[in-house]
Amino acid sequence: MRTKIIAGNWKMYKTPAESLAFLDAYLPAVAGHTADELLLFPSDTSLSAVLKKIEGTNVHAGAQTMHWAKEGAYTGQTSATMLKAIGATHVLLGHSEQRAYQNETYESVHLKIKAAFEVGLKPMVCVGELLDERQAGVTKDTLLSQLGAAFTGLSAENLGDLSIAYEPVWAIGTGLTASPEQANEAHGIIRNELRVMFGDAVADSMRILYGGSVKPNNSATLLALPEVDGLLIGGASLDPKSLATIVASRL
Ligand code: 13P
Repeated sequence: MRTKIIAGNWKMYKTPAESLAFLDAYLPAVAGHTADELLLFPSDTSLSAVLKKIEGTNVHAGAQTMHWAKEGAYTGQTSATMLKAIGATHVLLGHSEQRAYQNETYESVHLKIKAAFEVGLKPMVCVGELLDERQAGVTKDTLLSQLGAAFTGLSAENLGDLSIAYEPVWAIGTGLTASPEQANEAHGIIRNELRVMFGDAVADSMRILYGGSVKPNNSATLLALPEVDGLLIGGASLDPKSLATIVASRL
């Protein structure tokens, strides 16, 4: 059985003070929840404060993106080494908002995965089709091409530390959620491709999360799907009660 991951992506929300106030409510609400891995992706300015506050708890945290170089003249960027140095354990890569607004590509995601592994950060890689691609019937081709660009050439040995978030772009922040059939089908396509690329052991161990308008009223259904190994939650992760309700919906 794969341990599920329940992750909140705070995007560009919350100051350090707001992040700490969230944790004051969230940490006691989920204390003792060991059935799943609990993760948060705060903004870079809150990450350090969050990491200090969650020390010794069952909650882990990482950055929403990073650069692939160890260091260098890259104004505005943060390296894997820097994230590791402040105690981050994870990094989110290839989010559709990074792809849409920051020129992230799966070629850069590939370099970032390698950089994350070099310092022992666990990458969570987002994939997912646009509405146009779903309507044109090319969801599978899109997912295969994203996985190919991100993963071709990686060695199987680190991949247990990597997770994938299937986030259909049309479901992000729209209130539209993939149906159980759509989520199961997409997750199946992804797992099958991992099997082709890396073999059964990697494919069977890798967690594939669902993201896109996950709310307390649909989380239990999604988490019960056999192919869904967790959730990546945007809007509903900003409120501690709502995220704690999603965590509890798994029990
Ligand atoms: P929403 O849950 O707000 O749709 O966001 C999903 C997402 O992008 C998580 O990374």
